[in-house]
Amino acid sequence: MGGPIPALDARARSCAERLARAERVLLASHIDADGLTSAAIAAEALDRADIPFETVFEKQLDPDAIAGIAERDFSTVLFTDFGSGQLDDIADHAAAGAFTPVIADHHQPADAGTEFHLNPLLEGLNGATELSGAGTTYVLARALGDEANRDLAALAVVGAVGDMQDSSGELVGANREVVAEGVAAGVLAETTDLALYGKQSRPLPKLLEYANDVRIPGISGSERGAIGFLSDLDIELERDGEWQRWVDLTTDERQTVASALLQRAVARGVPASRIDDLVGTTYTLTNEAEGTELRDASEFSTLLNATARYDRADVGLAVCRGDRDDTLDEARTLLTNHRKNLATGLDWVKREGVTQGEHVQWFDAGEAIRETIVGIIAGMALGTDALRGDRPVIAFAAKSDTESKVSARGTHRLVRSGLDLSAVMGEVARALGGDGGGHDVAAGATIPSGQEEKFVERADAVVADQLG
Ligand code: C5P
Ligand code: C5P
Ligand code: C5P
Ligand code: ZN
Repeated sequence: MGGPIPALDARARSCAERLARAERVLLASHIDADGLTSAAIAAEALDRADIPFETVFEKQLDPDAIAGIAERDFSTVLFTDFGSGQLDDIADHAAAGAFTPVIADHHQPADAGTEFHLNPLLEGLNGATELSGAGTTYVLARALGDEANRDLAALAVVGAVGDMQDSSGELVGANREVVAEGVAAGVLAETTDLALYGKQSRPLPKLLEYANDVRIPGISGSERGAIGFLSDLDIELERDGEWQRWVDLTTDERQTVASALLQRAVARGVPASRIDDLVGTTYTLTNEAEGTELRDASEFSTLLNATARYDRADVGLAVCRGDRDDTLDEARTLLTNHRKNLATGLDWVKREGVTQGEHVQWFDAGEAIRETIVGIIAGMALGTDALRGDRPVIAFAAKSDTESKVSARGTHRLVRSGLDLSAVMGEVARALGGDGGGHDVAAGATIPSGQEEKFVERADAVVADQLG
């Protein structure tokens, strides 16, 4: 194969060989869907290669977290879904003899080098759209176990979707190769389908009511509207007194709902560009049970965020690794809570509104939104009428008594015009005594409390520069 993955092969092989020489490995990963799937892929590959390891999850790989890792008695540390952005600090510890780092990440690398470093950005691939942390870890797993590890492509797709790398409607770049390998391994299927969240597990009216990526007047946000719309169609809506889900419908019934929905959108004046967004590629994990969150990559990723972002990465990791006896129920309980928090947080933003600067818009949620999910909410808010769609949003939330979390989200259109939020977050945060980074389209930072207004002022100027 001559696609993008082979470009990473030499680095992947060198990282894999280093891991194979390790007596044992400390596996450190990030607490979100991409970080969890990265950890699960790495864990599976290490197990299969008989390399002993322990796992640790971090919210942010800040200097304290790295120092903590350095104090542990491991001479090899595998960082997944983070590490590149903190390479300067990691390299210092490595030089002091604390450990040898092996990194599989897709974030913007800091200005430092290290021997065992796998990152799509180092080979000219885009880390926000073409390969995720889990995809990068999958490439490493292939180098460790080759054909036998191709089944792990399914988790890599869950990670990519969790990082919203399919926001153009489908996965692109090296991600496409991962999908193809998953399909060939019999663990994945891709279909063109309605691009609504919850096709596996949501009752039909909820599927439509909660579809807020593309708002359809009279249906989105309205339970009564959604039920009314469905009742007019020739489909079996209920069975044994229960609402049907999308997966329960026949192919004909799905076609009926989809075309009626598109017609309604056209009739109600939804612009053509938004109507295209109603259809997209769905990634199905074919070995998972039908009607469960685990069968749909998007639903699976939300389930994982619901665990790791609430200090229960152990639950998410167990679910990824197929150990589901008690953990799946636990994950579902956490998911209910997560959804409630997202809905409450989004309502808060809509109610309180955002402040417009010259080139950015911003809100400070303080204690009202948990800092681990303020970025997700900022991204969801950017898709609603409550915010302008033509400028990035910067969101703040309290992290501790002394620190604030910053999350920034933009659009691909703005990125094409020059926006790079990773540079904005890094540069401005460091000028104010904090640190940050991430991707061009989505980035974050930690800053000392009280610096929020100054942060916005400076960020506004940097964004003006980038877009000017
Ligand atoms: O760690 P980091 O890579 O985890 O997280 C990526 C974040 O960027 C996710 O929260 C994802 O929702 C966000 N993102 C986004 N829009 C994109 C790509 C990523 O909001 N187009
Ligand atoms: O709508 P609800 O509050 O149940 O959504 C909760 C979860 O569903 C979130 O993780 C959110 O990111 C996801 N979601 C989504 N796309 C939507 C609606 C919800 O990804 N259109
Ligand atoms: O936390 P949030 O979802 O806003 O993070 C968006 C992106 O920015 C993620 O990829 C995350 O890893 C990155 N980030 C970072 N440094 C921080 C905070 C977030 O690189 N201090
Ligand atoms: Zn990631």
